[in-house]
Amino acid sequence: MRLVTNIAVLVSGRGSNLQSIIDSIGSGYLKARISVVVSDVGDAYALLRAKKHGIDAVFVNPENFASKELYEKEILKVLKTHDIELVLLAGYMRILGKTLLLSYKNRILNIHPALLPAFTGLHAQKQAFDHGVKVAGCTVHFVDETLDGGPIILQRCVEVKENDTPETLADRILEQEHKIYPEAVKLFIENRLRIEGKKVKILQS
Ligand code: GRF
Repeated sequence: MRLVTNIAVLVSGRGSNLQSIIDSIGSGYLKARISVVVSDVGDAYALLRAKKHGIDAVFVNPENFASKELYEKEILKVLKTHDIELVLLAGYMRILGKTLLLSYKNRILNIHPALLPAFTGLHAQKQAFDHGVKVAGCTVHFVDETLDGGPIILQRCVEVKENDTPETLADRILEQEHKIYPEAVKLFIENRLRIEGKKVKILQS
C-alpha cells in the first residue's frame, strides 16, 4: 500500500457518502485520493459532486453491455487505468459479479443502512422501521459474493424514537453512515483490518 491510497467510488445516486469521503480526505483525516467515481446511472448527482471536486467522473452505461461480466470488465478497465487499490460502494445499486469481486478480493467495502445481518437489500431503513425495531443503525462491511453478507468492519446504532417515520429514521442513520464510512476506510488504509473467517479483527494503531 502506498502512502496515499488510490480509491475508486462506485455510485448510483445522490452521493452523500461519497461526499463524506471527499470531505474526510479534504480535512486530512484520510490519507487517500479518490481518483475516479464510476456510476451506472448517467444523471446521478454523485457524478456532479465528483466533477465539482476535480475527480474523474465516469458513467458506464450497463445497457451497452450484453452481460454483467462484460459490463464489469469495462469498469475494471477504468479501475486499472487509475491504478485503484480500494473500491468503495456508496449507494451503488448493483450486485457485484465475479469479475470485480475476484480482481479486488477483500478490497471492496460497502455501507449499508441497517445493522446487518438484519434487513439486507433495498429500503433497509423502512424494513427495520416496519419491523418495529427499537434500535436501528448502519454497517460498513467487506463485499463478497453474498448480498450484504461480507465480513463486518464497523456498525453504529441509532435509537428509534416514538415519533419517527421511516424518513426521519433514515436521516439519522445517514448521519451515522457519514461518520463510520470514513472511519472504516481509515482502518483499511492504515492496514489495521484482518479478516478471520466471518470476523474482522481491528488492530490497535
Ligand atoms: C445510503 O443509505 C447507503 O447506506 C446505501 O445507499 C444510500 C446511498 O446514499 N447503500 P448516498 O448516495 O451515499 O447519499
